[in-house]
Amino acid sequence: MLEEIEALKEEIQQFSITNSDELEEFRLTYLSRKGKIQTMFSKMGSVPKEQRAEVGKAMNAAKNLAQDKFDSKKEELTRRQARTVGATDDVTLPPPPLSVGSLHPLTRVLDEMKDIFLRLGFSIADGPELEDDFHNFTALNFPPDHPARDMQDTFFIRKDDEEGRQDLVLRTHTSPVQIRLMENQEPPIRAIMPGRVYRNESITAKSYCLFNQLEALYVDTDVSMAELKETLIMFAKLMYGTDVKYRLRPSFFPFTEPSVEMDVWWDKGGDGQWLEILGAGMVDPNVLKAVHLDPDVYTGYAIGLGVDRIAMLRYGIDDIRTLYENDLRFLNQFI
Ligand code: PHE
Repeated sequence: MLEEIEALKEEIQQFSITNSDELEEFRLTYLSRKGKIQTMFSKMGSVPKEQRAEVGKAMNAAKNLAQDKFDSKKEELTRRQARTVGATDDVTLPPPPLSVGSLHPLTRVLDEMKDIFLRLGFSIADGPELEDDFHNFTALNFPPDHPARDMQDTFFIRKDDEEGRQDLVLRTHTSPVQIRLMENQEPPIRAIMPGRVYRNESITAKSYCLFNQLEALYVDTDVSMAELKETLIMFAKLMYGTDVKYRLRPSFFPFTEPSVEMDVWWDKGGDGQWLEILGAGMVDPNVLKAVHLDPDVYTGYAIGLGVDRIAMLRYGIDDIRTLYENDLRFLNQFI
């Protein structure tokens, strides 16, 4: 038996493998289920007990030899194949150009918006996307069970951990960052807060379950509505040029009083339309009270800009979904 195994090992060593057909033949001959190695193992039953250990060892050595040879030849062939220049390849051609990426349209517009506000003296602040009810609603003057909460279809999240059960929300706007800022910093506060927000809305060309906002907050001892209006108009002109056509409409938000919305005219070559780009207003006294600021001392304004809307208007994009699908045919237009 031992001699038989030795002969098999010799045979394995001699087997010449120079291409993938031979590699496959090698595998079938030795390593497959009906191959010589398996056949050899199946004879183990007829080996006398006292020889079994020795024979078993020799058989395993033969098996490893075949397997190692197969693995190393396979690797060698794959490597060689990758290097081979085919008859139809023109080795004198210059290499294909590297494809260069570009900034996403949302990032570009966001950068421009940040620049405008930095020029106006604002700094940048940040807050969590997973919020508690207090920051997203209550402190912003949405009383519990108040119908104004329905304005923002909310994704609720239940969190269970050592600290117990907590109901959280994916923030529906960037306004909770206003609260966090005012909790942590004395006025004067003049900051912008860019970020993603989430709403459980049906997905259409105009609304998506996730979008981007840029919040601006200015709180000091005598901030006026006139200043807010001036800032909004300045923003529109810096963003879209001095001949931009805009309008301000009275509106309602629980956390601002009075409130406005700003629309910008989207020309679309003939059949134009007004597009709402932001909501804004004077910070409601109840919001100041919620963060322990005295409304008799401080006033402020807040602005919530829709980054997606502003990008759509800037680049003439008529479907918000294209901003989130990462389709290269769309993105390559911005290179
Ligand atoms: N948070 C409001 C929204 O998402 C926008 C807004 C912000 C309005 C600040 C007024 C002031 O609808």
